[in-house]
Amino acid sequence: MKELSLHILDIAKNATQAGASLVEITVDEDILKNRLTISIKDNGRGMSKELLQKVKDPFTTTRTTRSVGLGIPFFEMAAELCGGKLSIDSVEGKGTNITAWFEYDHIDRQPLGDMPSTIMAAVTGSPEVDFIYRHVICGKEFLLDTREIKKVLKGVPINNVEVATWLFEYVSEGLNMLRR
Ligand SMILES: Nc1ncnc2c1ncn2[C@@H]1O[C@H](COP(=O)(O)OP(=O)(O)OP(=O)(O)O)[C@@H](O)[C@H]1O
Ligand SMILES: [Mg+2]
Repeated sequence: MKELSLHILDIAKNATQAGASLVEITVDEDILKNRLTISIKDNGRGMSKELLQKVKDPFTTTRTTRSVGLGIPFFEMAAELCGGKLSIDSVEGKGTNITAWFEYDHIDRQPLGDMPSTIMAAVTGSPEVDFIYRHVICGKEFLLDTREIKKVLKGVPINNVEVATWLFEYVSEGLNMLRR
């Protein structure tokens, strides 16, 4: 994968497939500390100790359609290629938190990519799941919580095309403000 946002979408998909009702995506760009940290936390079914031990191995998957699961190994490789690390905390029945960090200015660090499209795709792809997206750039924060948005929508589905377009623009503007 060429962009970190595609890894984020992939890891968030693991979370929704694990039956999560809430997925929290946090991106922290700490340029002073030269560190980019991405975490995806969910309240899904979690992993058994046995699964947790071998989940970084590409031949570990509970998919039935193929025997290779590359989502986590790819994300880990992206982090390790630029001096970073990936760690997984998971408790069966409670949820999972996957955190990866990267040296911000490392030459091999993939660009973050298109976060507005990623968030829009994650949210509209699993309308029954709630998402909290927190993006921090040098201490300034943008926050999106679909539970708040759904309250305002009063029954209009969050995957409605116009709502999806609004989500995209809202995130784009929010991130532009942070980068200013
Ligand atoms: N958030 C999660 N909660 C519970 N189990 C998870 C979670 N993320 C991953 N897993 C388990 O770890 C396995 C490996 O995940 P990984 O993303 O590496 O591959 P995959 O999802 O099986 O396949 P791919 O990502 O290539 O489509 C999954 O099949 C699933 O059983
Ligand atoms: Mg996966």
